[in-house]
Amino acid sequence: MKKAVFVIEHLEPELWDWCIIEYKHISQMVGKEQVWFTNIKKEDIHKLAPFGKVTEQSVKELGLKDACILDPEAPETLTPLAAKEFTYFVFGGILGDHPPKKRTEEELTCFLKDIRAFDIGKEQMSTDNAVFVTKEIIEGKNLSNLKFQDSLEIEIDEIESTILPFRYTLVQGKPLISEELVRFIKKRDKVE
Ligand SMILES: C[S@@+](CC[C@H](N)C(=O)[O-])C[C@H]1O[C@@H](n2cnc3c(N)ncnc32)[C@H](O)[C@@H]1O
Repeated sequence: MKKAVFVIEHLEPELWDWCIIEYKHISQMVGKEQVWFTNIKKEDIHKLAPFGKVTEQSVKELGLKDACILDPEAPETLTPLAAKEFTYFVFGGILGDHPPKKRTEEELTCFLKDIRAFDIGKEQMSTDNAVFVTKEIIEGKNLSNLKFQDSLEIEIDEIESTILPFRYTLVQGKPLISEELVRFIKKRDKVE
């Protein structure tokens, strides 16, 4: 059986630190050999090289066969059986927005008309959570067997907190988030 490749099409105007931390987390979860980062500016390639294959080319130019897109607006839901048909699983490297702006559909799915698109539920997940859930489905779990938490509160200090209004997978009862990202958010949002 061919190993799945997780293709992250970066669609933010810059390679923000938040994106780098999420992309590193993806690489840690699925393995560096299984990740491609596409649509990366030449000057940023070295920042992601430790975490996977990196290219300036957009996934839209690669002509991938055996590929599907993960898009919350897709008409069908990914199942373990459907996942068997594909090698490449394409995700939007898009930070969450609230309410969701359907950027995956408008900036990715619309341009790849020959490729099937699937959702993994209708709630918006971070790209790293979406990759994790897709990996679980590829490995045979149905979406209905996974547990989720909608919205995550990060305590900044005794008084302040930041709410992330997205869906998080529960792994051993805990929401899946990179510890590095939690440290980054705490530092960023601390009022001096
Ligand atoms: C933070 S989401 C981007 C959401 C963006 N607000 C939108 O409306 O498309 C980042 C990526 O994770 C994947 N993703 C997140 N939630 C998903 C879902 N429920 N179904 C399918 N893919 C999802 C998609 O590939 C998406 O581009």
